[in-house]
Amino acid sequence: METSSDCEAMDPDALQAAERFFDAAPPLSGESDVIAQLKAFVYKQNRSEKGRPIVCVTSGGTTVPLERRCVRFIDNFSAGNRGAASTEFFLKSGYAVIFLSRTGSVQPFCRDLPERPLLDCLETAPDGSLHARPQYEQTVLSALKAHSTVVADGTLLHLHFTTLFEYLQMLGLVGSLLEGFGKRAFFYLAAAVSDFYVPWETMHEHKIQSAGGPLAMELCNVPKMIPLLRRRWAPEAFVVSFKLETDMGMLMQKAKGALLKNGVHAVVANELHTRKDKVVIIEAAGETVLTRDSRDEDIEEKIVGHLTQRHRLYLKHGNGRERAS
Ligand code: PMT
Repeated sequence: METSSDCEAMDPDALQAAERFFDAAPPLSGESDVIAQLKAFVYKQNRSEKGRPIVCVTSGGTTVPLERRCVRFIDNFSAGNRGAASTEFFLKSGYAVIFLSRTGSVQPFCRDLPERPLLDCLETAPDGSLHARPQYEQTVLSALKAHSTVVADGTLLHLHFTTLFEYLQMLGLVGSLLEGFGKRAFFYLAAAVSDFYVPWETMHEHKIQSAGGPLAMELCNVPKMIPLLRRRWAPEAFVVSFKLETDMGMLMQKAKGALLKNGVHAVVANELHTRKDKVVIIEAAGETVLTRDSRDEDIEEKIVGHLTQRHRLYLKHGNGRERAS
């Protein structure tokens, strides 16, 4: 059985860098509201008869502001499809989900909705009542039903971030609040998190002016936060990180490195252009290749199926690194 003390101690330099990042970050707006929502949600799940497991799914890309009164920013690629689809499958598997997603990214149960503007999908009847146009009715109805069930069950909490600062601050809050969940807590880190940023204290206050000629800017490295999650915030939680590369040659090597370096239970390796069709799950027990067999299928169903089975083993036996029997 693995306990927090089995985790490698955190490198003091890495810890200091992470602490400096948080000390220098702008205050999280609405922090007390986020904490209140999280506490109420966690309390509710803790009281659920079945002792429901809880997963924090992170989704979408973080922005890196270039100015404090931000006009320009650098963005990380991610539509949020992976996180939204995975959330639906976690809910189906009996998990409560904290869905920490980028504002404006794909949301659970909305993936099949028409891309057309909302007003194009609706019409009014002669009596003035509102309806979906016939061609959209079935899709809208089934999305609405699935969503209403989850709302009635109280098993989905939406939290939103835009900037890198907000994402990491909120992840820290979720991590600390889920500590009491022990092994029942699961982190599924599918968000695309920037590796570079402009520290708040050196950031321009106002819009950067072009009159001064070409802009040269040095971006600092964002300290890696997974070790902090793994070793400080929620040391007993089951943690799965994702690795995205565009160079296949590098992908497996980096994903294997992340497994060892961060002490996570699994790393899901994916390449940008094939991410919807193929992933490789790297665990201490070995590698599992998952593929999408038809266009109607969501590869997330397989990813979540595989990882929830691993989480069950972890809950039962300990370290989540044993082979499934
Ligand atoms: O949203 P979609 O369009 O459907 O695409 C899904 C996806 C490709 C974005 C997703 O499957 C994915 O791979 N997400 C992780 C992308 C990413 O940020 O990879 P990375 O190599 O930059 O980071 C690896 C891990 O380190 C991530 O789990 C991240 O949460 C973590 N990290 C990153 C930076 C940082 N400073 N600290 C971290 O802990």
